[in-house]
Amino acid sequence: MIPGFKYFPEYLNKDEQKSLLEKLRNKIQQNPLFEPQMPSTGKPFSVKMTNFGSLGWVSDKNQGYRYQATHPSTKSPWLPIPDILLKLWNDLADYPEEPECCLLNYYHNEKSKMGLHRDEDEEDQIAPVFSLSLGDTAMFKIGGLTRKGPSNFIKLASGDVVILGGKARKAYHGVDRILHGSSQLLKHGGRINLTMRRVTPPKIHTL
Ligand code: SIN
Ligand code: MN
Repeated sequence: MIPGFKYFPEYLNKDEQKSLLEKLRNKIQQNPLFEPQMPSTGKPFSVKMTNFGSLGWVSDKNQGYRYQATHPSTKSPWLPIPDILLKLWNDLADYPEEPECCLLNYYHNEKSKMGLHRDEDEEDQIAPVFSLSLGDTAMFKIGGLTRKGPSNFIKLASGDVVILGGKARKAYHGVDRILHGSSQLLKHGGRINLTMRRVTPPKIHTL
């Protein structure tokens, strides 16, 4: 496994997962899920998304992948990142600044998956990427620094946390498929992944 990959199975217990889910449900009412589109082709992603934090990750046909401070349809600023997630970042990320983005991916049906990619839209490539899974188990694929190299599969279950730091920050990764029916957490099944990232470089303190 690539150095810097950290895995914390069932870091959140069932009660903590339920309480976080309740908070997410409330926030999603004001911060609705949207269907991102692939740059140029406009083909819809197979996952729905929303964000929390000062910057959210969005993508559409005309402007492609980017971070922006407002929701693409409501045009409102994103709601703040839930406190419990900020606490997890502070406990596990080993990074002095808070995350600016918490992307929520909702793998809602049989077709939902995420192709192999690297997180590279962030100016800050030093801060780790933090990921928490809720609901049905995902077949998560993690490779190395090239698209073609060897890769490992890890089953990410509800409550599991993964950190991509160090070399793993630049590793190719994706979600091959969701094992539908493996968790009872979400009312209609499926999986939620919450990814926290630092987008802008840390402020440099000079005298
Ligand atoms: C992502 O890479 O943005 C999501 C990964 C996941 O859903 O586990
Ligand atoms: Mn990613």
